[in-house]
Amino acid sequence: MKRFEGKTAIVTGASRGIGLAIAERLVSEGARVVITGRTKETLDEAVARLGGPAHALGVAGKAADPAHQADTVRQATEAFGSVDLLVNNTGVNPVYGPMIELDLEAARKIVETNCLAALSWIQRVHGAWMKEHGGSIVNVASVSGVQPAPMIGMYGASKAMLLSMTELLAVELGPDIRVNAIAPAVVKTKFATALYEGRERELADAYPLKRLGEPEDIGSVVAFLLSADAGWITGQNVVIDGGVTLVAAAS
Ligand SMILES: NC(=O)c1ccc[n+]([C@@H]2O[C@H](COP(=O)([O-])OP(=O)(O)OC[C@H]3O[C@@H](n4cnc5c(N)ncnc54)[C@H](OP(=O)(O)O)[C@@H]3O)[C@@H](O)[C@H]2O)c1
Repeated sequence: MKRFEGKTAIVTGASRGIGLAIAERLVSEGARVVITGRTKETLDEAVARLGGPAHALGVAGKAADPAHQADTVRQATEAFGSVDLLVNNTGVNPVYGPMIELDLEAARKIVETNCLAALSWIQRVHGAWMKEHGGSIVNVASVSGVQPAPMIGMYGASKAMLLSMTELLAVELGPDIRVNAIAPAVVKTKFATALYEGRERELADAYPLKRLGEPEDIGSVVAFLLSADAGWITGQNVVIDGGVTLVAAAS
């Protein structure tokens, strides 16, 4: 049986990478998905890959733009009739370096997109659908929100904030809305290219499972958390990391 038959999901930042893998998994299990991203052309390609307008709709815009958020939620309900599922997947990491030297304007941008925009998306789908009908939400955090991440410290701090918000919202929104999070280690996407390009084998050797993550490794876990199979799980963070944080903790 398909777990998401008759359900509609919004997945932000889903024209490629982890977001697209989540959308693909949800569609394969019967959902209709509304995906977002800044670039219309890549969104159109992703919609085609997801099976076209019967299964997917793309809405171009910046995740932190309130007008884009409102427009996306409106288009989702108009096109598919509900917003049962939300995946806050968009995350940015525009700076690299010690936190003591961090440009505060860049820090504000990180918190704006990775945390406040995620909250705003939740507020909007809550008002438009979930408050009355229930729903399930997954926030995409990172292992850098679970343990310190040198040189990308504010990105990690923003993901820690997202994890904290996940717990609080789970308490506030139960019993009809579940809110969970995931924390991946390095997954092979454009976002993470600089972390592994040219040294994938060396990096992967540090992982107990001896490989880096693929976007599909994330899609399957997010689908589980969104589904009724996770019906008694809320406010939790699932670390998806090939075991690497255990090794780091032990060394
Ligand atoms: N890859 C990893 O190793 C890793 C590990 C832990 C956590 N994560 C988290 O996973 C999430 C997805 O990352 P990814 O690796 O899949 O990245 P990715 O392959 O670079 O994909 C990012 C997606 O988000 C869109 N996007 C980027 N900035 C946006 C914005 N401001 N507003 C709306 N859409 C935006 C991109 O499309 P456009 O460029 O057209 O906007 C694209 O569709 C992020 O939250 C990231 O922090 C990733």
